[in-house]
Amino acid sequence: MARKGKERRHLKRRELVRVACEEDCTFIRTLSGEVFSVFGEYSEIIPQWFANQDVITLVYVKNGLPVGFAMLYVLSGEILAIAVLPAFHRRGIGSALLDHIQLLASQLGLRKLSLHTAKENDVARLFFQKAGFTVIGAQEDYYPKGQQALIISKCI
Ligand SMILES: CC(C)(COP(=O)(O)OP(=O)(O)OC[C@H]1O[C@@H](n2cnc3c(N)ncnc32)[C@H](O)[C@@H]1OP(=O)(O)O)[C@@H](O)C(=O)NCCC(=O)NCCS
Repeated sequence: MARKGKERRHLKRRELVRVACEEDCTFIRTLSGEVFSVFGEYSEIIPQWFANQDVITLVYVKNGLPVGFAMLYVLSGEILAIAVLPAFHRRGIGSALLDHIQLLASQLGLRKLSLHTAKENDVARLFFQKAGFTVIGAQEDYYPKGQQALIISKCI
Protein backbone atom coordinates (compact mmCIF):
# COMPACT_ATOMS: atom_id res chain seq x y z
CA MET A 1 0.00 0.00 0.00
CA ALA A 2 2.77 2.41 1.00
CA ARG A 3 4.56 1.79 -2.32
CA LYS A 4 1.39 2.34 -4.36
CA GLY A 5 0.81 5.60 -2.51
CA LYS A 6 4.33 6.74 -3.35
CA GLU A 7 3.88 5.82 -7.03
CA ARG A 8 0.61 7.75 -7.18
CA ARG A 9 2.26 10.82 -5.67
CA HIS A 10 5.09 10.55 -8.20
CA LEU A 11 2.60 10.29 -11.07
CA LYS A 12 0.74 13.35 -9.77
CA ARG A 13 3.96 15.40 -9.79
CA ARG A 14 4.87 14.44 -13.34
CA GLU A 15 4.82 16.99 -16.13
CA LEU A 16 3.66 15.91 -19.55
CA VAL A 17 2.19 17.04 -22.84
CA ARG A 18 -0.97 15.23 -23.97
CA VAL A 19 -3.85 15.63 -26.40
CA ALA A 20 -6.57 17.81 -24.85
CA CYS A 21 -9.90 16.29 -23.88
CA GLU A 22 -13.37 17.74 -23.26
CA GLU A 23 -12.54 18.41 -19.59
CA ASP A 24 -9.78 20.84 -20.69
CA CYS A 25 -12.23 23.14 -22.46
CA THR A 26 -12.88 25.36 -19.42
CA PHE A 27 -9.15 25.83 -18.89
CA ILE A 28 -8.65 26.69 -22.59
CA ARG A 29 -11.58 29.13 -22.57
CA THR A 30 -10.40 30.89 -19.38
CA LEU A 31 -6.76 31.21 -20.44
CA SER A 32 -7.79 32.39 -23.93
CA GLY A 33 -9.95 35.10 -22.36
CA GLU A 34 -7.06 36.12 -20.12
CA VAL A 35 -4.38 36.46 -22.78
CA PHE A 36 -6.20 37.02 -26.10
CA SER A 37 -9.29 39.13 -25.29
CA VAL A 38 -7.34 42.30 -26.11
CA PHE A 39 -7.55 41.11 -29.76
CA GLY A 40 -11.19 39.93 -29.84
CA GLU A 41 -13.70 37.54 -28.30
CA TYR A 42 -11.21 34.69 -28.15
CA SER A 43 -12.77 33.08 -25.07
CA GLU A 44 -15.61 32.24 -27.49
CA ILE A 45 -13.62 31.76 -30.73
CA ILE A 46 -10.94 29.40 -29.40
CA PRO A 47 -13.39 26.87 -27.86
CA GLN A 48 -15.06 26.75 -31.32
CA TRP A 49 -11.69 25.87 -32.87
CA PHE A 50 -11.20 23.29 -30.10
CA ALA A 51 -14.41 21.57 -31.23
CA ASN A 52 -13.28 21.44 -34.89
CA GLN A 53 -12.26 17.89 -35.86
CA ASP A 54 -9.42 19.23 -38.05
CA VAL A 55 -7.81 20.93 -35.05
CA ILE A 56 -5.54 19.06 -32.64
CA THR A 57 -5.07 20.67 -29.24
CA LEU A 58 -2.25 19.72 -26.92
CA VAL A 59 -2.09 20.64 -23.24
CA TYR A 60 0.89 20.84 -20.91
CA VAL A 61 0.02 19.27 -17.56
CA LYS A 62 1.91 20.03 -14.36
CA ASN A 63 1.04 18.47 -11.00
CA GLY A 64 -2.13 17.06 -12.58
CA LEU A 65 -3.38 20.42 -13.85
CA PRO A 66 -3.21 22.01 -17.31
CA VAL A 67 -0.95 25.09 -17.44
CA GLY A 68 -0.70 25.68 -21.20
CA PHE A 69 -2.14 24.66 -24.55
CA ALA A 70 -1.34 24.80 -28.26
CA MET A 71 -3.63 24.25 -31.28
CA LEU A 72 -2.71 22.99 -34.75
CA TYR A 73 -5.00 23.19 -37.80
CA VAL A 74 -3.94 19.96 -39.47
CA LEU A 75 -5.19 20.84 -42.97
CA SER A 76 -2.81 23.79 -43.39
CA GLY A 77 -0.19 23.49 -40.63
CA GLU A 78 -1.35 26.72 -39.01
CA ILE A 79 -0.72 27.08 -35.28
CA LEU A 80 -4.02 28.68 -34.27
CA ALA A 81 -3.01 29.52 -30.70
CA ILE A 82 -0.44 28.81 -28.05
CA ALA A 83 -0.64 30.09 -24.49
CA VAL A 84 0.77 29.39 -21.04
CA LEU A 85 -0.63 30.61 -17.71
CA PRO A 86 1.23 33.84 -16.87
CA ALA A 87 2.46 32.41 -13.54
CA PHE A 88 4.32 29.69 -15.50
CA HIS A 89 5.91 31.83 -18.21
CA ARG A 90 9.59 31.55 -19.01
CA ARG A 91 9.98 27.99 -17.74
CA GLY A 92 10.21 26.29 -21.13
CA ILE A 93 6.54 25.23 -21.20
CA GLY A 94 5.70 27.15 -24.40
CA SER A 95 8.80 25.66 -26.05
CA ALA A 96 7.81 22.13 -25.00
CA LEU A 97 4.33 22.64 -26.49
CA LEU A 98 5.82 24.03 -29.70
CA ASP A 99 8.25 21.09 -29.97
CA HIS A 100 5.33 18.66 -29.66
CA ILE A 101 3.28 20.58 -32.25
CA GLN A 102 6.25 20.43 -34.59
CA LEU A 103 6.70 16.70 -34.05
CA LEU A 104 2.99 16.09 -34.60
CA ALA A 105 3.00 18.18 -37.79
CA SER A 106 5.92 16.27 -39.26
CA GLN A 107 4.29 12.96 -38.34
CA LEU A 108 1.22 14.17 -40.26
CA GLY A 109 3.41 14.85 -43.30
CA LEU A 110 3.26 18.64 -43.08
CA ARG A 111 6.31 20.47 -44.41
CA LYS A 112 5.68 23.91 -42.96
CA LEU A 113 4.20 25.52 -39.85
CA SER A 114 2.73 29.01 -39.98
CA LEU A 115 0.82 31.36 -37.72
CA HIS A 116 -0.42 34.89 -37.22
CA THR A 117 0.59 36.88 -34.20
CA ALA A 118 -0.14 40.50 -33.35
CA LYS A 119 2.54 42.93 -34.50
CA GLU A 120 2.49 44.46 -31.02
CA ASN A 121 3.10 41.07 -29.35
CA ASP A 122 6.87 41.34 -28.96
CA VAL A 123 7.06 38.37 -26.57
CA ALA A 124 5.37 36.05 -29.08
CA ARG A 125 7.62 37.26 -31.91
CA LEU A 126 10.76 36.67 -29.80
CA PHE A 127 9.42 33.29 -28.69
CA PHE A 128 8.83 32.09 -32.26
CA GLN A 129 12.08 33.56 -33.57
CA LYS A 130 13.98 31.69 -30.85
CA ALA A 131 12.28 28.51 -32.14
CA GLY A 132 13.50 29.16 -35.71
CA PHE A 133 10.42 30.85 -37.18
CA THR A 134 10.77 33.89 -39.44
CA VAL A 135 8.43 36.76 -40.24
CA ILE A 136 7.29 36.41 -43.86
CA GLY A 137 4.59 39.08 -44.08
CA ALA A 138 1.96 41.20 -42.39
CA GLN A 139 -1.82 41.56 -42.57
CA GLU A 140 -3.65 44.78 -41.73
CA ASP A 141 -6.80 44.66 -39.60
CA TYR A 142 -6.42 40.90 -39.02
CA TYR A 143 -7.87 40.72 -35.51
CA PRO A 144 -11.53 41.40 -34.62
CA LYS A 145 -10.36 44.44 -32.61
CA GLY A 146 -8.39 45.75 -35.58
CA GLN A 147 -4.74 45.01 -34.77
CA GLN A 148 -2.25 44.17 -37.48
CA ALA A 149 -0.83 40.63 -37.60
CA LEU A 150 2.58 39.34 -38.57
CA ILE A 151 2.66 36.12 -40.58
CA ILE A 152 5.35 33.83 -39.26
CA SER A 153 6.50 30.51 -40.63
CA LYS A 154 9.02 27.71 -40.39
CA CYS A 155 9.90 24.83 -42.72
CA ILE A 156 10.00 21.54 -40.82
C1 LIG B 1 4.42 33.16 -25.95
C2 LIG B 1 4.29 32.21 -24.76
C3 LIG B 1 3.42 31.01 -25.17
C4 LIG B 1 5.71 31.70 -24.40
O1 LIG B 1 5.59 30.70 -23.40
P1 LIG B 1 6.74 30.44 -22.32
O2 LIG B 1 6.46 29.13 -21.69
O3 LIG B 1 6.86 31.62 -21.42
O4 LIG B 1 8.02 30.36 -23.26
P2 LIG B 1 9.44 29.66 -22.97
O5 LIG B 1 9.75 29.69 -21.52
O6 LIG B 1 9.45 28.32 -23.62
O7 LIG B 1 10.44 30.65 -23.74
C5 LIG B 1 11.24 30.26 -24.86
C6 LIG B 1 12.00 31.47 -25.36
O8 LIG B 1 11.10 32.47 -25.88
C7 LIG B 1 11.63 33.78 -25.61
N1 LIG B 1 10.76 34.48 -24.65
C8 LIG B 1 9.71 33.97 -23.97
N2 LIG B 1 9.15 34.91 -23.18
C9 LIG B 1 9.88 36.03 -23.36
C10 LIG B 1 9.81 37.34 -22.80
N3 LIG B 1 8.87 37.69 -21.91
N4 LIG B 1 10.73 38.26 -23.22
C11 LIG B 1 11.66 37.94 -24.13
N5 LIG B 1 11.79 36.70 -24.68
C12 LIG B 1 10.91 35.76 -24.30
C13 LIG B 1 13.01 33.55 -24.97
O9 LIG B 1 13.96 33.48 -26.01
C14 LIG B 1 12.81 32.19 -24.30
O10 LIG B 1 14.01 31.50 -24.08
P3 LIG B 1 14.87 31.80 -22.74
O11 LIG B 1 13.92 31.78 -21.58
O12 LIG B 1 15.86 30.67 -22.73
O13 LIG B 1 15.52 33.15 -22.94
C15 LIG B 1 3.72 32.93 -23.51
O14 LIG B 1 4.43 34.15 -23.32
C16 LIG B 1 2.23 33.26 -23.60
O15 LIG B 1 1.39 32.44 -23.25
N6 LIG B 1 1.91 34.48 -24.05
C17 LIG B 1 0.49 34.91 -24.15
C18 LIG B 1 -0.21 34.25 -25.34
C19 LIG B 1 0.49 34.59 -26.66
O16 LIG B 1 0.87 35.73 -26.91
N7 LIG B 1 0.66 33.55 -27.51
C20 LIG B 1 1.38 33.68 -28.78
C21 LIG B 1 0.52 34.14 -29.91
S1 LIG B 1 -0.59 32.85 -30.44
